[in-house]
Formats: sequence, structure tokens, C-alpha cells
Amino acid sequence: MSMHVLVTGGAGYIGSTAAAALIHNGYRVTVFDNLSRGHRAAVPLEADFVQGDLGDRAALDTLFQMGKFDAVMHFAALAEAGESMQKIGLYFRNNVTGSQILLDTMIAHDVKRLIFSSTAAVYGSKDSLIHEDDPHEPASVYGESKLMTERMVRWYHQREGLRYCILRYFNACGAMLDEHGRAVRGEAHQPETHLIPLTLQVALGQRPHVSIFGTDYPTPDGTCIRDYVHVEDLARAHILALEALDERAAMTYNLGNGQGYSVREVIQVAREVTGHPIPAVEAPRRPGDGPILVASAERISRELGWQPRYPKLHDIIASAWAWHRAHPQGYAEQGI
Ligand SMILES: NC(=O)c1ccc[n+]([C@@H]2O[C@H](COP(=O)([O-])OP(=O)(O)OC[C@H]3O[C@@H](n4cnc5c(N)ncnc54)[C@H](O)[C@@H]3O)[C@@H](O)[C@H]2O)c1
Repeated sequence: MSMHVLVTGGAGYIGSTAAAALIHNGYRVTVFDNLSRGHRAAVPLEADFVQGDLGDRAALDTLFQMGKFDAVMHFAALAEAGESMQKIGLYFRNNVTGSQILLDTMIAHDVKRLIFSSTAAVYGSKDSLIHEDDPHEPASVYGESKLMTERMVRWYHQREGLRYCILRYFNACGAMLDEHGRAVRGEAHQPETHLIPLTLQVALGQRPHVSIFGTDYPTPDGTCIRDYVHVEDLARAHILALEALDERAAMTYNLGNGQGYSVREVIQVAREVTGHPIPAVEAPRRPGDGPILVASAERISRELGWQPRYPKLHDIIASAWAWHRAHPQGYAEQGI
């Protein structure tokens, strides 16, 4: 019998891609999502789908009674740093309390394997590669909510025997292509705040220009440098981590591609990929944005053999463009 994995947040961008990768690798998948930010149409057809909220313990108990899960991949969260600074209570309740209820339900039903989606937002800004043991100084309520959840996960490991892998992603990007090169699922956040989709929406004629927030950072071209990691590479890391839980009971890894790209570089490569001039407008810095955030993924490479297959910005943007061009309204045109 194949392993049955519960994917919370599996109607979202990264969770739906991981669900598809799990199915492709022979796992059975159930997605649990409240659809507050996700899309029913993003859930793979082969997955079971249950709509519900992490805060609803009774719904989770029913789900776990039905499912007999072997492991949980926990993607469900609110994930907008800017929004989290306005809606503090919502972020702590949804991300921290929601995760705590999920952890209790897992233990009650004797499900003791967890892969948790954490983030580079747990770190402070640093102008050299960030390692897992670098200081944790979240600049947003969102980052804090993820760090608090990480700490809870470690206590459930110590006191309840939970086996876990915490994966701290840097900037997720790109789209998953099928065997015919068609982009079947990709980024569709509402509102969109991520640089690559915003830039490509200009090429689609949906926005007049893209904004560059800050051009006086201490970086070679004055704009912020970030680490972009392809969503398929993230999905593959989740499967490696799940398999490694047999041998290792407690893991924490960065997931990034180890090279940073500046905002101007992203826009320039998007111009090359799309053939559109993509006007850019320079704007002041945003509070909370550090100059450079780039991961060292050396630990997961050494311990689990993970290497990004799509580290090149051109490949990342070309796959994202395939998705946005084929689905200019995201999942909306599929009517769900
Ligand atoms: N996108 C990135 O660059 C990035 C970077 C680092 C970490 N992450 C983390 O990865 C995970 C997935 O991110 P994403 O970009 O796919 O976001 P997303 O918004 O596309 O997906 C999150 C999903 O979780 C669901 N959800 C939220 N709260 C819920 C709740 N209480 N109960 C049930 N479902 C709930 C939403 O409806 C949505 O489908 C998040 O935990 C996020 O913090 C994302």
C-alpha cells in the first residue's frame, strides 16, 4: 500500500505543486484547505480534497479518522509579510494556533511525521550566505509566526516523539510543466505581491509598469538581491525529506539556489524571455526590506543530496511565463 500524505494548503501555489509531485511519485494524497487563498482547480485531480480550516479541531478529527495518514506536509498559512503587520491577530491565530491544533490532532491520531513550510523571513538581513544556525530576527509578524511554529514543532518532537523536517524556503517561483511542456499549475496569489508574477503581468498588459522599491541599496546595481528557488525544486526537496524521516528524526534546512539575483536582473531577464519592454518605475525603499537575502543550501545538499535543477533565472522566468501566458487570469477562467 502506498503511503498516504495529508497536504494542508494543497490548493495553494507550493502545496498544489508538491501534491502533484507526490502523486507522480506514487503517493496517495489528501488535500485539506479552506480556500481562503487557494484554488480548488489547483488541486490535482487524483487527490482527495476536503475543504476545512486548521482552527476547526472537530473537522480535523474527522479528517484524520477517515484518512489514516502516514505523514503530513503542512503548507497552510497566511504568507504576506506586509499584510501580517496590519493583521497581527489574524496571523498569529491562523499560523500559530492553527498549527498547534494540527499538531495536537496528529499526536492524538498517532501520526508522527511532519514536513513544515518555513521561510527565510525567520532570519535577519545578511550580506553573505545565510546558514541555518544564523540568528533568527524576524522583521515581520509573518516571520515571527513561522518561527513560533518551528519552536512548537521542536517541543512536540522532544515530548511527543514527532519526527519532523522544517524547510525554510527563500523566494518560491516558477511553474510546473507537464511532460508536454504545458504549465499546469503556477503562481496565482490575490492580490499578487511577488516580483516575478508582477513583472510578467506587465508583459501581459495587465499592469502599466513594475515598481522597483529602492535603488540605493549597497548592492552592485543598487536594488535588492534575493534568492529565487523553483517550485519544482521545492517539491522535490519535500519528497526527499519525507523519505529521510525514516532515518532522521529532526531536520531543519534552507532551500534556496545559493545565488542571488537583483530586482533589475529579474526585470531584464523577463524582458528577454517575453520580448516585451516591461517599463519599470523607481520608488522609495519599503520598510523591512534588507539589501540581500541569499541561502546556503549546503546542509540539505550534503545530508539529503538535494540540488536545484532550475537555478538559472532564465529557466525560472521562462516556466513562469509559460504559466501566465496560458492562464492570464490564473485559475479564474476555470470557473472555480
Ligand atoms: N511563496 C513563497 O515564496 C514562500 C516562501 C517561504 C515560505 N512559504 C510558505 O509556504 C507555504 C505555501 O505558500 P504559498 O506561496 O503556496 O501560499 P498560498 O497562499 O498559495 O497557499 C497557502 C494555502 O493555505 C491555505 N490556508 C491558509 N490558512 C489556512 C487555514 N487556516 N486552514 C486551511 N487552509 C489554509 C490557503 O487557502 C492556501 O491555499 C506557506 O506556509 C508559506 O508561508 C512560501
